[in-house]
Amino acid sequence: MKSIRNTLLVWLLVGVTTAIGVAALVVYDRARKEANELSDTQMKQLVSSLPQPPGPIATTRTNETSLRDDFVVQVWDRTNGFQLYNSHGIYNLPLTRQSGFHDIYVESTEWRIYSTLLGDTVVQVAQLASVRHELAAAVALRTVAPLILLLPFLSVLIWITVRRSLSAVRRVAAQVQSRDANALTDIPDYELPREIQPLTHAFNELLSRLRQAAAAQGAFIADAAHEFKTPLTALKLQVQLAERAGSDEERRQAFADLKGGLERASHLVNQLLTHARQDPTVPRRVSDRIDLVALARSVAADFVPIAADRGIDLGVKITDPVPACIHGNPESLRIMLGNLVDNAIRYTPGGGMVDIVVRRHPHKIVMSVEDTGPGIPEEDLDRVLDRFYRVPGTPSEGSGLGLAIVRQIVHLHGAEIKLCNGMRGLQVEITFHTSI
Ligand SMILES: Nc1ncnc2c1ncn2[C@@H]1O[C@H](COP(=O)(O)OP(=O)(O)OP(=O)(O)O)[C@@H](O)[C@H]1O
Ligand SMILES: [Mg+2]
Repeated sequence: MKSIRNTLLVWLLVGVTTAIGVAALVVYDRARKEANELSDTQMKQLVSSLPQPPGPIATTRTNETSLRDDFVVQVWDRTNGFQLYNSHGIYNLPLTRQSGFHDIYVESTEWRIYSTLLGDTVVQVAQLASVRHELAAAVALRTVAPLILLLPFLSVLIWITVRRSLSAVRRVAAQVQSRDANALTDIPDYELPREIQPLTHAFNELLSRLRQAAAAQGAFIADAAHEFKTPLTALKLQVQLAERAGSDEERRQAFADLKGGLERASHLVNQLLTHARQDPTVPRRVSDRIDLVALARSVAADFVPIAADRGIDLGVKITDPVPACIHGNPESLRIMLGNLVDNAIRYTPGGGMVDIVVRRHPHKIVMSVEDTGPGIPEEDLDRVLDRFYRVPGTPSEGSGLGLAIVRQIVHLHGAEIKLCNGMRGLQVEITFHTSI
């Protein structure tokens, strides 16, 4: 699992260590250049301080350790190349006749040499290159050492800062953890760092949606229980009537009523289930290509026997005989149209007409179900979309859920629904937006 604290710590420490490393290299490079310049000046000064002409040959030092901090001075006769003087007998560096500074290797040891002409002699001052490097390294180390000592202090500082900054996250997590499942109140976000507030805002918005969903669910369960009370009471009474029936005729009648009551109760259960399944908070696929003309014909075919039974002329009107395609969920759309056609047939008196009409427009397709029934009183037009609402005095049985289910499916498809009383009866129009 990724940890912000560890990532911050690692990257900050890597950054600080790299910065110190780079600083050490830069200081070392500068120190080496300065040490070189200083040693070169010393070599020149040493030559100018020698007696004129230099004294006779002598090997003054043979000890190698003392040489490390020292300069090797050698003097040659300019004409015959005979060595007149060597300050350190153990080193015999070659004669360099060309004046100035030279870097040479003798037996794989690097030397810095300054040679010059003094009268009839060639004077050569030499120094081990390693001595210069060590000097530069010592200077660099002295400069960088305090920075390296700072590293543990910086690490602790970074660790404490990161820990303190992230403590707000732990606080919020503890608050969420300590809640019970029913506590859907907002998490207080005052005194929280600005960086964490978007998270708590988003979380609080989610909690608010959950509160709404829980309230809606509670109301739905209460409504559903209430709606069940009447049919269940009726069923109980019908059973009692059947038990008390004095004759076969009475019993047959009581059982017929009981059967009707059971059918209504089972219709209510089916509508409740459909309503629950079409809940807009449940994600469902709306990407199938669906031809609304074909859907209209297929649903009409399903309802033709029922319509004929009630003496209603059910038909499909298509303004344009080409397919009218949208993206949607086939099962939901069939339920939607089925409920509208069911209402139209059920509430239109015998001898009336019901049409499913599909009209194509630029960027939209309008599907409507039009009947020649009584329509819906204007004051009830908005309310009939609410679940369990039935226009008072509606003769036929029903659960009052059909149009609420239709509205859910309309929303699922990003479409719009409009109910209006036309010249002949009710018109329910659903507008689907298309990209074509
Ligand atoms: N075509 C229509 N003509 C007249 N009134 C209608 C029509 N469609 C719906 N209504 C009125 O709107 C009310 C709500 O309709 P809805 O389809 O939601 O429920 P329902 O038909 O009573 O029951 P369900 O469809 O769940 O069996 C109906 O009770 C009825 O009063
Ligand atoms: Mg209905």
